[in-house]
Amino acid sequence: MLTLSVIGTNYLGATHAVGMAELGFNVIGLDTDERKIEALAAGRLPFYEPGLPELLKKNLDSGRLRFTTSIEQISDADVHFLCVGTPQRRDGNAADLTYVFSAVEAIAKVAKSGSLIVGKSTVPVGTAELLIAKIHQINPSLDLAWNPEFLREGFAIEDTLHPNRIVVGVQSDLAEATLRQVYEKLLAEQIPWIRSDLRTAELVKTAANAFLATKISFINAMAEVCDVAGADVMTLATAIGYDPRIGNRFLQAGIGFGGGCLPKDLRSFMARAEELGAKEALDFLSDIDSINLRARHRMVDLAVAELDGNPVDKKVFVLGAAFKPNSDDVRDSPALEIAEGLAKLGANVVIHDPKALDKAKERFPHLQFSDDLNQSALGADLVLHLTEWLEYRELDPAELGKLVSRRRIIDGRNALSPAKWQNAGWTYLAPGRPRFDAHD
Ligand code: UDX
Repeated sequence: MLTLSVIGTNYLGATHAVGMAELGFNVIGLDTDERKIEALAAGRLPFYEPGLPELLKKNLDSGRLRFTTSIEQISDADVHFLCVGTPQRRDGNAADLTYVFSAVEAIAKVAKSGSLIVGKSTVPVGTAELLIAKIHQINPSLDLAWNPEFLREGFAIEDTLHPNRIVVGVQSDLAEATLRQVYEKLLAEQIPWIRSDLRTAELVKTAANAFLATKISFINAMAEVCDVAGADVMTLATAIGYDPRIGNRFLQAGIGFGGGCLPKDLRSFMARAEELGAKEALDFLSDIDSINLRARHRMVDLAVAELDGNPVDKKVFVLGAAFKPNSDDVRDSPALEIAEGLAKLGANVVIHDPKALDKAKERFPHLQFSDDLNQSALGADLVLHLTEWLEYRELDPAELGKLVSRRRIIDGRNALSPAKWQNAGWTYLAPGRPRFDAHD
């Protein structure tokens, strides 16, 4: 049985380490952040992901999963998975590769001869070849493969243990054979296996994220047109989605995409294309980015209009802070940017979220947060539904209506039933849809 190490224990790395232990491997997770490692070793996840805490505990108890801050401890592993972050650089759109390069150097110095380093982080095309040069300066017996990860927050276990494809960029048959051993159990489920060169494997990830972002911005562009034409984007999305060439997933119009992946991957992809001399090929992605950011500004404008053009001292109750439901991730969260925009215009904004409040407070200490939904709804002039948590979709509009001072809701995610809210005396608005005035 192979021994595996996972370097970097953020979202991707922690999930991958647990997933590999669940497949039966002995796994050691490494991070330089002592607090994170202490928490993981004690069975506590530093982020919210449904089902993952239970699997973490189970695999720690089995003895297959360990965590360390000491690089020497990973030296016995046969395969090292590189899962460190590649955030957007402060000085531009490109990805910051500092962590990737320093982690690879550290691994190469301790890894046993003949072992395989496997990149999972999202990197600009061409990075793996630069890393190989670095690795071979230190230890020519090591090999490098690229195996991009497509996991979605909120579905991380499902996507790790039952991915819809496995892509491996390799330079040798031996590296492919080793990865086949790692994913043997998944291959038994007939999951498609795609072998490629390193560059294609790196590109698959950025291309997939760019396509998903394009789909979302496409439907949000249609929402803009629906708004001026008086049409309904929800019916439009349903109708075009029945064409299997288009498909109905990722056509949910609203306040757009956020999180730690799509926005920054889009920008770093454009930056890399420009470096390679193919700027024009990806120029359209800057429109995708603009449509996405415009969806947030449009929501602020709509809210101001519903506050009779004057947000000052009006109470706005915001449902949701996370960038999407079933996650406590608030990185580049559309909900928080909209809340902040309204607060800056003088509104009295109170934000509720079932899981993301601690992280939201850290990033936006000047905003008001509350974990008491009913209390925060009291006297609201306007309710904004910005993250479609199940508990919001299941809210009773009649009950909420007793607390607010004006029954008016904007559904930034097009996830509530207009008829249900209308029948309970609310005026319901959403991007790309006609206005649903309250039934008296
Ligand atoms: C994404 C990719 O889906 C995943 O494959 C990759 O590995 C990492 O990036 P994630 O960031 O977890 O995953 O979120 P995702 O589910 O893709 O949603 C991204 C954003 O788009 C969220 O803010 C979501 O609310 C928004 N979204 C999604 C829409 O606005 N409309 C949609 O139809 C779908």
